Amino acid sequence: MIKHLLSINQLSREDVNRILDTAESFREVGTRVIKKVPALRGRTVVNLFYENSTRTRISFELAAKRLSADVINFSTSGSSVSKGESLKDTALTLQAMGADAIVIRHSSSGAPYTLSRWVPSSVLNAGDGTHEHPTQALLDLFTIREHALSFEGLQVAIVGDVRHSRVARSLTFAVTKMGGDVTLVAPATLIPPEAVGWGATVTHDLDSVLPKLHVCYMLRVQRERQRQQLFPSVREYARLFGLSRARVDALPERALIMHPGPMNRGVEIASDVADLPRAVITDQVTNGIAVRMSLLYLLLGGDRSRPAKPEEPEGARQVAFDEAADERPEPAVEPAGEAVSPNA
Ligand code: CP
Repeated sequence: MIKHLLSINQLSREDVNRILDTAESFREVGTRVIKKVPALRGRTVVNLFYENSTRTRISFELAAKRLSADVINFSTSGSSVSKGESLKDTALTLQAMGADAIVIRHSSSGAPYTLSRWVPSSVLNAGDGTHEHPTQALLDLFTIREHALSFEGLQVAIVGDVRHSRVARSLTFAVTKMGGDVTLVAPATLIPPEAVGWGATVTHDLDSVLPKLHVCYMLRVQRERQRQQLFPSVREYARLFGLSRARVDALPERALIMHPGPMNRGVEIASDVADLPRAVITDQVTNGIAVRMSLLYLLLGGDRSRPAKPEEPEGARQVAFDEAADERPEPAVEPAGEAVSPNA
């Protein structure tokens, strides 16, 4: 962990617990009238989104603003990307303007890794192709923990379009890292060959796993990424792999229903199921802000006197990461009046 957040696999169990604990202390800020603390005043966060997003982009923007950072939102439309400017030149341009952190979403798997080699800023992966979406997995863990569920022995089914899902990959790594068990449920055409190495069980029979679950995590069918017909029809898919009201009745009483959004209501999840109290989909969105505040704070907050240098070894930033945790302010008790940023 340390300087960049590129993959869940970078994080130790202790790192994950520290991120979630820090998010816990920031969550209260979102309940105040003035939702702001000065932790990142004077720092600049750039949201560099080459792919569409509602939740992740707005959540990172709110997280950075609630920490009093300056925020630049960059999207490809209306920028010089439409004139052919490369990712590298765009990133170097943003760097030259003083970006301390770059949050990137890109359709190419690995783009955040490449970016992290070009710029001295911290890079946060906001979703790269079909590879990973680590902040989504962390907010999902936070939401599971919030509902008093222990990670040890947790039974999670991740259901649907695993093949095209960066969420499935990050969440599988995250849950297994924390001691839980993951079952991937999908038609054979929607399970990638490499899934056998993820430490999860694979099945094509949703009904057989429902009774044992603590969390039933539904994935969006990503029809925009499918280049061929991978199941006979949407109706057939919904019948075999959709979470219907009848299937909810087969879940244990306290089992949570989760979805990263955006949802295809009536395809992977019945519309009335998405609105049940045990469907914690809007909680996931709310918690995403606190988790992203935590990450921005831990990556940037403890390092104010030492701007990152391109040649700085990873180990040096690990110290900064640890110091950040030790020096963490107690936002829960900070007087609201002092928390107003001059750039609010
Ligand atoms: N969950 C998620 O990544 O949603 P967005 O595509 O709206 O950011």
